[in-house]
Amino acid sequence: MKAVMVVVGTRPETIKMAPVIRALQKSKIPLIFTHCGQHYDYNMSQQFIEELELSPPDYGYKVKAYSQGEQTARIIIHIERLLKKTSPALVLVEGDTNGVLATALAAVKLGIPVGHVEAGLRSFDLRMPEEHNRRLTDHVSTDLFAPTKNAENNLKREGVWGKICITGNTVIDAVIQHLPIAEKKSKILEAVHFENFALATAHRAENVDDLAVLKNFMEAFAEAPIPVVYPMHPRTKKRLRQNRIYAKIKKSKNIQILPPLGYLDFLVLMKKCEMIATDSGGIQEEATAPCIRKPVLVIRLSTERPEAVKAGFAKVVGIEKQKILEAMERTLKQRKELPAKSPYGDGNAAEKIVRTIKKELAF
Ligand code: UD1
Ligand code: UDP
Repeated sequence: MKAVMVVVGTRPETIKMAPVIRALQKSKIPLIFTHCGQHYDYNMSQQFIEELELSPPDYGYKVKAYSQGEQTARIIIHIERLLKKTSPALVLVEGDTNGVLATALAAVKLGIPVGHVEAGLRSFDLRMPEEHNRRLTDHVSTDLFAPTKNAENNLKREGVWGKICITGNTVIDAVIQHLPIAEKKSKILEAVHFENFALATAHRAENVDDLAVLKNFMEAFAEAPIPVVYPMHPRTKKRLRQNRIYAKIKKSKNIQILPPLGYLDFLVLMKKCEMIATDSGGIQEEATAPCIRKPVLVIRLSTERPEAVKAGFAKVVGIEKQKILEAMERTLKQRKELPAKSPYGDGNAAEKIVRTIKKELAF
């Protein structure tokens, strides 16, 4: 029996693939759901599968913490064995993680077609492991599901061989599908110490693995003109601990550190906050969803999401403490009206992706 294998490995992949999994199931397309285990803590992996009410993965691995190369290599080994055993008609991956590249490589070497959800994003910053992963994955993919026209243009410019289809980003589907449930179920606001706050996240390797940048971020949050609620990624916590600054940050009256949150709690915080300061990719997109609509300060040197900037939601403010503080102050003063429409689509990206797959593979 022909089946589509969906492979996820990290928090954002599970969130962004949830609508695709639902659309595949609705279309009665046989599905093999695999978690390649790049993220392995409960609150970075299993928590999302439960909360988003996905069936447990048919296959799951744990690859723990290794170097970039070893992590990628270990995932290739697991996925190659699994693909040989299951022979899916298509493998679907999402985004730009090491697990995505590993899965795409394992599949292409066995002659199994790869569909890349969120194809064509480019930061043009080769310091980022994600930029290597997304470029390489796009060039071995058979189907490129580009979220926007800009992403399609990037792919055309590079002369990719696969078929390009503009779909919107499935994260908008995810926000629309989950915010109403989040608003009913989440109790996170009872745990937040502040009425008005900025929401912050930071985990990019080129930021938090650089002590100077890590300190810039922590000082900016501690001195911010508005209290900061900060659900902390395990990579960042590890770096703060290694550098012996975690305890100091934890004591700051202006920062409330939280553990990595479930999706429903995080959606509620995005909806409630005054602004978002982040180096995350997915959060830049989610902030443009009509039911969220929040200004985003991108604490990075570049973004692969220029659509959010062009539409007026996001600003790339850099990684200097002073620049971050100035941008926060400006955002609080200006409080400008944000567009009612997201540049990442209307929430039907997953349906479009599945329609294309159904036609191509004649399910
Ligand atoms: C990865 C992706 C990044 C994505 C992010 C989503 C790559 C190169 N990076 O970054 O694009 O934005 O996931 O959150 O693929 N750790 C834990 N528990 C976990 C997972 C990670 O403790 O469940 C810690 C470990 O110390 C690990 C470190 O975080 O070494 C980094 O994890 P890793 O998956 O390599 O990269 P992320 O920073 O999570
Ligand atoms: N997110 C979450 N809990 C958190 C922080 C983020 O559920 O504590 C969600 C967020 O809403 C978004 C995704 O995780 O959908 C973003 O993940 P992350 O920033 O780790 O990765 P990126 O998008 O940068 O690859």
